[in-house]
Amino acid sequence: MLGFAQPYATVLLMPEIRTINFADKLALISEHWMPKVVTEMNDYQFKLVKVQGEFVWHSHADTDETFIVIEGRLRIELRDGHIDLGPGEMAVVPKGVEHKPCAPEEVQMLLIEPRGVRNTGDQGGERSAPNDVWI
Ligand code: NI
Repeated sequence: MLGFAQPYATVLLMPEIRTINFADKLALISEHWMPKVVTEMNDYQFKLVKVQGEFVWHSHADTDETFIVIEGRLRIELRDGHIDLGPGEMAVVPKGVEHKPCAPEEVQMLLIEPRGVRNTGDQGGERSAPNDVWI
């Protein structure tokens, strides 16, 4: 039995590894445009969010931003056009590129971006959501 003492102690010090179920987490979200953190990888956060309607034009000077649509159809307006994303589709908006997410019907999606990124980017304003809200 003594042989297990060291490995067991090592296991206890490791970070918890757990399954994250998107549907279960999304069921906890009732507000639109309020991203919730579900986990982190290094300095990056994975945020689930429900959106509907038009957001504000903004850009992120220091980071790219990844959109992964789980449910619904998201349009990301760009100054020189737009892209449309459906369930199971994703896109990366490069840093510095102005964008405006729009969703005529509700969209459920996963955002991947570094810790501390504001949803309204450099624009700020009343549509800014609090950061680091975990579910
Ligand atoms: Ni953005």
